[in-house]
Amino acid sequence: MSDAGSVAVLAERLAAHPRTTVLTGAGVSVASGVPSFRGMGGLWKGKRATDMATPDAFARDPAGVWAWYDWRRQQLAMCAPNRAHEVIASWSRSLDDFTLVTQNVDGLHERADTENVVRFHGSIWEVRCWENCDASPGSWWDDTAPLEAVPPPCPYCGGLLRPGVVWFGEAIPPDALERSLAAAECELFIVAGTSAVVHPAASLVDVARDHGAFTVEVNPDETPASGSVDLVLRGPAEEVLDAVEALGDRPA
Ligand SMILES: NC(=O)c1ccc[n+]([C@@H]2O[C@H](COP(=O)([O-])OP(=O)(O)OC[C@H]3O[C@@H](n4cnc5c(N)ncnc54)[C@H](O)[C@@H]3O)[C@@H](O)[C@H]2O)c1
Ligand SMILES: [Zn+2]
Repeated sequence: MSDAGSVAVLAERLAAHPRTTVLTGAGVSVASGVPSFRGMGGLWKGKRATDMATPDAFARDPAGVWAWYDWRRQQLAMCAPNRAHEVIASWSRSLDDFTLVTQNVDGLHERADTENVVRFHGSIWEVRCWENCDASPGSWWDDTAPLEAVPPPCPYCGGLLRPGVVWFGEAIPPDALERSLAAAECELFIVAGTSAVVHPAASLVDVARDHGAFTVEVNPDETPASGSVDLVLRGPAEEVLDAVEALGDRPA
């Protein structure tokens, strides 16, 4: 894991209560038993995410895509937040100005009671009308209930419902993008558990740097962001963040 000195640098920064934004990706959920897309050969139930998480795949085979999401929802329901989710949630409550931007759709940050969460790629626990029918709210709504039918019907028009996640090739919801860009203009920007190759999420770190933020990466592996951040904490997020929090808790 990363050295004690680097951990202390982040703990000291946090102790000054800077305006802080954390960007997370699939890596923070790995310790909860949720595989990342790029790990494990990129396969979920034998299917490649890039073949299932697209509007074209859904248009071709809505029942097949929903069966895949239903299976993922059942897996996620058995997972619990890990120490990385807990530490981030604790910062969200203790820091005066904190935003979490997450690319994860698993809902684990929310289950850890994190405040001020921006869901950059939506949530697997939300749905929307595929036809965007006039009767439906026009945006995603919560639907955590087990599916009664696959594919599930829109309760407003009887057409198809779709998962409330941003698929490959789709735009980031304007509200999430706007809030994330505003939050990137911060004093401390921490990127944890993301390979930082999926844009525009990956470019948030550039916005933060241009704004003069102190930038930090938490990841066991080198990423394209590693060379340009101010501090690299090499290691699993659940261990590194726990070590930072332990220092922060120590009386001066
Ligand atoms: N949990 C989820 O909700 C989930 C899971 C898979 C994919 N996705 C979606 O797929 C997209 C893939 O992009 P991504 O960059 O988030 O994931 P990714 O799969 O591209 O990269 C995961 C990153 O996590 C790192 N990592 C692995 N174990 C870690 C640990 N214990 N602690 C910290 N880091 C660790 C890896 O080195 C890698 O850089 C995301 O936008 C997301 O929407 C979501
Ligand atoms: Zn509808």
